[in-house]
Amino acid sequence: MSRTTTVPPCRICGGGLQEFFDFGKQPMANAYRTPGEPGEAFTFRLAGGICDRCTTVQLLEEAPHDRMFHGGYPYRSSGSSVMRSHFEQLADTFLATELDRPDPFIVELGSNDGIMLRKIAAAGVRHLGVEPCDDLAETGRRNGIRVCNEFFDEELGKRIREEDGPADVVFAANTFSHISFLDSVLRGIDALLAPHGVFVFEDPYFGDIVRKTSFDQIYDEHIFFFTVRSVKYMAAAHGFELVDAERLPVHGGEIRYTLARPGTRAVQPSVRTLLAEEEKAGLADPATLRRFSDDVRRVCTDLVSLLRALREDGRTVVGYGATAKSATLLNLCGIGPELLSYVCDTTPAKQGRLTPGTGIPIRSPRAFTEEFPDYALLLAWNHAEEIKSKESAFVASGGRWIEYVPDVRIS
Ligand code: TYD
Ligand code: ZN
Repeated sequence: MSRTTTVPPCRICGGGLQEFFDFGKQPMANAYRTPGEPGEAFTFRLAGGICDRCTTVQLLEEAPHDRMFHGGYPYRSSGSSVMRSHFEQLADTFLATELDRPDPFIVELGSNDGIMLRKIAAAGVRHLGVEPCDDLAETGRRNGIRVCNEFFDEELGKRIREEDGPADVVFAANTFSHISFLDSVLRGIDALLAPHGVFVFEDPYFGDIVRKTSFDQIYDEHIFFFTVRSVKYMAAAHGFELVDAERLPVHGGEIRYTLARPGTRAVQPSVRTLLAEEEKAGLADPATLRRFSDDVRRVCTDLVSLLRALREDGRTVVGYGATAKSATLLNLCGIGPELLSYVCDTTPAKQGRLTPGTGIPIRSPRAFTEEFPDYALLLAWNHAEEIKSKESAFVASGGRWIEYVPDVRIS
């Protein structure tokens, strides 16, 4: 239901936002508190809408940026071998295509631990990672990349251009959709990019979120959920042209968008194909969005019923992967330590802490392998293949995975 009186205008075009989901008060997804930590955790209303003009799906309220990305931000891109090879392949592609001219220069927004740029640095190519989280900036430097420890905006784009010259490529992975002030970022990219340059970004695809009911992609850090249609609009509104859109299997389904200055590149057929698919799927239609909200409720009901039945049966159930995504799932379903005894995760900074809002202890994967539970809820479902093959002994010993995307099932 739309509540236009409290809804802000679209951050991209100023149009009207039509609310289509409201997950209520939620904590920040990467705010892992220590047991007994004093004070209330920060919460905000996690609700979203679609713009009736440019069709960009976005959160209605946002958590403060500096609360999200700071010294203690725990996420490390290199935690998955699949993601490591994903970014190594992309670095090779950039080196072979966009960075094959004399003295090329590439800038990455949100360079994280340097997972992509380290390969560029090893090839001796001029680069700069922009990374506002202090620890990550430091890790990137240790990994041999040059890092600027600031938030990217128009002013920084201009400064980099003055100091380093124009960029052949500006790249952002799982970063662009996290930034509320995209207008300033796009002006900064405009200032920084060479006339022939490209801005390439990849983020979760709203088409996949609807198709798989992967509503756990919705949390404080994901302010925008893009489609080809909405990115085409945004690009044009900021003096760029969407020239390519490539679907990616990572993070539960993403698209890698390529923007260039208008008329400088041939528009790839994928843009038109995906636009037609989106139209056919009715991605911007109120009926589709209502169905999505109904599907979310169904998944939550099914999952809670299953977990309660297993508990009543005396089965042990744990969570696998303390993902940011799981914060939305666990809070929306009201799943706490009484239903999941712990969640295991490889990230040292998360271990010994509690899942946000639901207070489930996070333990090292050793806890899992030392004593397999009867069931494990696969919270890091986007890494299903990698995790299932790594933990094949769990199933061999009689353990079962519980999955919830696109439907709740035992596998
Ligand atoms: P990620 O896929 O980035 O999800 P999100 O963006 O929702 O946080 O995070 C994966 C999490 O799962 C991360 O905390 C590391 C953890 N993980 C494991 O514990 N074991 C594994 O084998 C893999 C691949 C990830
Ligand atoms: Zn809009």
